[in-house]
Amino acid sequence: MPAELRDTFGRLHNNLRISVTDRCNLRCTYCMPEEVSFMERQELLTFEEIARFVRIAATLGINKIRLTGGEPLLRKDLAKLVRLLVGIDGIQDVGLTTNGMLLGDQAQALWDAGLRRINISLDTLDAERFRQLTRRDGLERTIDGIMAARRAGFDPVKINAVAIRGITDHEVVPLARFAREHGLQMRFIEYMPIGADEWERDKVYYAHEILEQIEGEIGPLVPASDYDPRAPAMEFEYIDGGGRVGIIASISRPFCNHCNRLRLTADGKLRNCLFALDEIDVKGFLRTSQQDDALVEAIMRSVATKWEGHEINTARFIKPLRTMHTIGG
Ligand code: 5AD
Ligand code: SF4
Repeated sequence: MPAELRDTFGRLHNNLRISVTDRCNLRCTYCMPEEVSFMERQELLTFEEIARFVRIAATLGINKIRLTGGEPLLRKDLAKLVRLLVGIDGIQDVGLTTNGMLLGDQAQALWDAGLRRINISLDTLDAERFRQLTRRDGLERTIDGIMAARRAGFDPVKINAVAIRGITDHEVVPLARFAREHGLQMRFIEYMPIGADEWERDKVYYAHEILEQIEGEIGPLVPASDYDPRAPAMEFEYIDGGGRVGIIASISRPFCNHCNRLRLTADGKLRNCLFALDEIDVKGFLRTSQQDDALVEAIMRSVATKWEGHEINTARFIKPLRTMHTIGG
């Protein structure tokens, strides 16, 4: 059995993102339509099925996991899953991407279960804009959640904001200031053509514009000392020691050539790219067979058929049918 997952472009895959639910307590316009029909409970992989999948993936070289959604904290007893995954041989790192709304109640339990990495999504500090963007009230709860994560011990707490021209471009400086004040690590993400609404290139607020705003209004940034050109986020540091800012320039600086990720959807489909048009069903194997061979084969096939990268910047690009909340960010 091979101990690594290398695709035809030489990329080694060690990173698995697992969506645990497609449900969400927000309705971000760029992610979900207002009216959605969610997956039936029995469609979702159980914690035992997820853990079995991860055990098999770990024998193939997966050592890093991130739990996503929808909103992963809506999945009952998520801390139990964290504990299961942290205990799997070969798994070195388990992270969570959440909107933070339920962290006030759950941050401590997640920390106690062994979670150490956390990314919280927050696109604005303005309550009215928050309501427009997410179609729900929740700014205060999200901020409470962020503070609860800090108190529980998470360090760094990373804050993810999607930068959309005309919609959240005015939020860049307030968010960056807020992060500096509270010792949080801010990360801005270029708006990608995935999700519910009509993406237009004109709405992408680019990395260089984000940097210019921050440097103009807050202070100079330099590439971080541990800057890793292969990582999705370009990391910068304020020269005055005021902390870090990351930019995920998915459009202006695609990082596909260093991609190390696979994704498992909540309903048990394996995807080799956020933008993939095909997926491999693994739930069938998990439910019908005690043999691991078919799962090993499915994982290897997913990696072997991975394409070179998303083609957002070409005329060939086709937007996937799945919306973001059903894939996992
Ligand atoms: N472009 C960029 N980021 C997105 N996210 C969701 N949809 C998009 C999009 N179209 C982000 C969320 C969250 C993470 C899971 O993915 O804001 O931070
Ligand atoms: Fe929920 Fe995240 Fe989608 Fe917003 S982006 S609706 S928080 S899953």
